[in-house]
Amino acid sequence: MPNAVISGTGMYVPDNIVTNDDLVSQYGIDTNHDWIVKRTGIEARRFAPEGIGSADLAVPACEQAIEDAGLQKKDIDMILFATLSPEHCFPGSGVYLQEKLGMPEAGHFCPAMDIRNQCSGFLYGLGTAASMVKAGAVKNVLVVGGETHSAALDLSTRGRAVASLFGDAAGAVVVSASDDESRGIRTWKLGADGRYADVLAQRVWDVRKRPFIPVDENGVGQVQPEMMWAQMDGRLVFKNAVERMIMGLMEVCWKEGITMNDIDVFAFHQANLRINQYVAQQLNVPEEKLLQNIHKFGNTTAATIPTLLAEAQREGRLERGMKVATVAFGSGFTWGAALIDW
Ligand code: ACO
Repeated sequence: MPNAVISGTGMYVPDNIVTNDDLVSQYGIDTNHDWIVKRTGIEARRFAPEGIGSADLAVPACEQAIEDAGLQKKDIDMILFATLSPEHCFPGSGVYLQEKLGMPEAGHFCPAMDIRNQCSGFLYGLGTAASMVKAGAVKNVLVVGGETHSAALDLSTRGRAVASLFGDAAGAVVVSASDDESRGIRTWKLGADGRYADVLAQRVWDVRKRPFIPVDENGVGQVQPEMMWAQMDGRLVFKNAVERMIMGLMEVCWKEGITMNDIDVFAFHQANLRINQYVAQQLNVPEEKLLQNIHKFGNTTAATIPTLLAEAQREGRLERGMKVATVAFGSGFTWGAALIDW
């Protein structure tokens, strides 16, 4: 059975930096830097300009990851695109990305699949890619997490509890078959609890309604703010996140017969610095082992983990031989954890 390794990483964020103070001065939101930093650790985020979508953000991240893997686009056997902010309800972002990478023009029609698992979408993609590689079905899978949150945030005081948390970004890895037994995606554990499906959701599209978006007498869509913008019970998310992240990390360690002390680097989903600090504290993980980018990018949902890995690799914080643990939790609720020998 081939081994599945992360052979390349890449990331991209748009240029436009929006600080907490900008939320007040540019958008007129009644908030302040200290409130946001104290509760979340977020100091700034990036917003993409109008006309740019998640597949656009993913292109440079994917090109970087493919080059880093020493591959060419024609070597990619499959695209898995994790996002909660696809360009449209359908088709998914994966096919737009495939086209933007120039694959069809080059006669390369690799399958492209979207993963709709929000903050844990990248880890669902990583587990799926590793399974397919190990099964011998494919050799190189591009696993992407890309989000354009800025288009769907209620950037007003009404929406501040959610709008101050999120930013735009894309990250990608290539998962490849390898004979090198010293490295690889060793184990992963995924989970979900659908009882909490409505706790963190954006319900603008509702096919239980006739039609799916209410219309006025002229057939023009009428969407109430609470349907148009994501809604969240922040405290319930916080509580469940810490429990599931702690359990997820413990489970993958048990499965591999190692302890937290054996892990060199932790790539936690970047929802909230306080969540991550609490999880680390409970597991006796020193903070210097945590990769963090929430302070500068905010919560970039499916992009948090691949951007962390790409940054850390370029900064020399990830080297061959290191043990990496990664964990995520988000809307659904869904969660995942994985152990990687880098
Ligand atoms: N600036 C100023 N005041 C704010 C802001 C803001 N940006 N947002 C909310 N408030 C106000 C509220 O309106 C409320 O005011 P009120 O008491 O007058 O009604 C007050 O602050 C307290 O609001 P809470 O929502 O109770 O604040 P809380 O202390 O729970 O913090 C937060 C909110 C930061 C979202 C917290 O619940 C949290 O971090 N939860 C985790 C959820 C999370 O990270 N979600 C990200 C997406 S999910 C994921 O990726 C896992």
